[in-house]
Formats: sequence, structure tokens, C-alpha cells
Amino acid sequence: MRKTVFITGTSSGLGKLTAIRFAQLGWNVAATMRTPENETDLTAYDNIKIFKLDVTKVEQVQMAVEQAIAAFGKIDVVVNNAGMGTYGPLELAKEDAIDWQFAVNARGPINVIRKFLPHYRANGGGMFINISSFMGITTAVPLGSLYNMSKFALEGLTEGLYYELKPFNIELRLIEQGGSTGNNFKESITWNRDENIKDYDDLMAKLQNVMNTADTSGSLDDPQIIVDAIVALATGESKKFRTVIGAAGNDLMALRNSVQIEDYLETIAKNYM
Ligand SMILES: NC(=O)c1ccc[n+]([C@@H]2O[C@H](COP(=O)([O-])OP(=O)(O)OC[C@H]3O[C@@H](n4cnc5c(N)ncnc54)[C@H](OP(=O)(O)O)[C@@H]3O)[C@@H](O)[C@H]2O)c1
Repeated sequence: MRKTVFITGTSSGLGKLTAIRFAQLGWNVAATMRTPENETDLTAYDNIKIFKLDVTKVEQVQMAVEQAIAAFGKIDVVVNNAGMGTYGPLELAKEDAIDWQFAVNARGPINVIRKFLPHYRANGGGMFINISSFMGITTAVPLGSLYNMSKFALEGLTEGLYYELKPFNIELRLIEQGGSTGNNFKESITWNRDENIKDYDDLMAKLQNVMNTADTSGSLDDPQIIVDAIVALATGESKKFRTVIGAAGNDLMALRNSVQIEDYLETIAKNYM
């Protein structure tokens, strides 16, 4: 019997590529997004069904989960991919930007997981693959504290759930990638700014330079490598709880694991001060 994957945030980037790959592998795909009316790529696949889903809206999550189960009967794997970034000084962040960062990257997966648990328990199992970042296990840049917070929260949620879902054969996996090509992540960043406060300008300029030169410095990964890792987890070929992808994340993790936290923080800070 065909397996089915449910994916959030399939309007662009990693989510869209993941939906296409699973469809090409013969899986049924419940591809969810905030604006299905604009979708033209995924509609070309007979085994992809598109459902409207903003992960921050609990009632919409409930509806999308019910519709996907009604359409395919059984969901085997859920990929919590939808996410966005809020960068800039915490002091300058608007209140709703702080809440939104948590709402999408942490509360969103919570909403989706909670609505799938009755289905997974009834079926005797299932898998959640949560798309985090190496920013979910280590810090890497200044002015990324809110994004770090949201992905660290996702990591804590995933690790904590391991124990309560193990008795039901419900498996949890984390993907920790770095920047990749072919997505809207940089363009959709919410920047925390205040024209009247200039004290952070130097740090902001340095961070933006790192982000703007990432395209040409060769530090972005091929997203198909990340898709490969997601598929390997879904098929059981890989059983890794955490999959760190890309040179940047692996180098940072090697450093983080080899020195004391105080030395790690100083090493990263020196790149920007
Ligand atoms: N690109 C990177 O540098 C990078 C690095 C590490 C981790 N990640 C993570 O990888 C995942 C995929 O991002 P990407 O790189 O593919 O960037 P992307 O192209 O911006 O994709 C993000 C997706 O999330 C969706 N989304 C945003 N808010 C949503 C909401 N409230 N409800 C439902 N969907 C929502 C977006 O949909 P709309 O079109 O409706 O906005 C889009 O489909 C994210 O979790 C991101 O944090 C990215």
C-alpha cells in the first residue's frame, strides 16, 4: 500500500521540493500551505493533494488534518517544515514579531503534532520529522536570539516528546540544516529595527553582510541533500534522531562539542566584534 506524507509549508523552498520528491517516489502527499489558490507546481502531480493550512491557526490545523486523513485514509509521516525567521536586536523587536516567531516555529509544530496524535495512536504508530536548523542546537550569529529561541524550543519539544510517544510507536526525528539555495527564507525575514536607535547598526551591518554574501560565498547547501535526508528518515533507511546537514552546521557542532561554552561564545563573538 502507498505510504502518505503530510507536509507543512509547501508553497516554496524545502517544503515544495520535499513534496515533489515524495510524489516522484510514489508516495501520496498531503501538501499544505497558506495560499493553495496560488499554487501551480504541485498541482501537476496526481498523487499530491493540496490543503489550506496556516500552522498558527488551530482550527485550520484540525480541518487540514481531517481532510488529509479523509483523502488518504492513513498518514504515515508528518514533516513539520513551515517556518520563518525574525532577526535583529531583541530590544528593537515589536511585541507581535516576538510572538509570531514562536507561533510559527514552535507553536505551529505543537498544533500539528497534537492534531495527529489520536490518528497515530489509533494506527499503532507514525513519525514526525521536525525541520529545525543548526540554530536549534547551537548559536551561530549575533541578532538571531529569537530564531534560536524558536528552534531551541522545537528541539526541546521533540526531545521531550520522545519519552511519552515511545510507548505508542510514534517516532520523532530532527533535521538540522544550514542555509540552502532555492527558498524564500532570507526574503521573508522580519527585521527588528528602530530608526532612532543606532547602537546596533554596526552589528546589523555585519550580520546582513554575512547573509547577503552567503549566496556567492558557496556556504549554502543544495536543498536536495536535505530532501535526501528527510526521505531516508521517512523510509527508515536512517534512524538518526538528529541529522545535522551541511559543512557550516557540522563545523559549528564540532567546535561546540570540543570546547567549553564560554570559549565557544567568545569564538563566535570575535567574528563580529
Ligand atoms: N533557508 C534557510 O536558511 C534555513 C536554514 C535552516 C533552517 N531552515 C528552516 O527550513 C524550513 C523551510 O524553510 P525554507 O528554507 O524552505 O524557506 P521558505 O522558502 O521561506 O519556506 C518556508 C515555508 O513556510 C511557510 N510558512 C511560513 N509561515 C507559515 C505559517 N504560519 N503557516 C504555514 N506555513 C507557513 C511559507 O509559506 P508562505 O509562502 O505562505 O509564507 C513557506 O512555504 C523552515 O522551518 C526554516 O526555519 C531554513
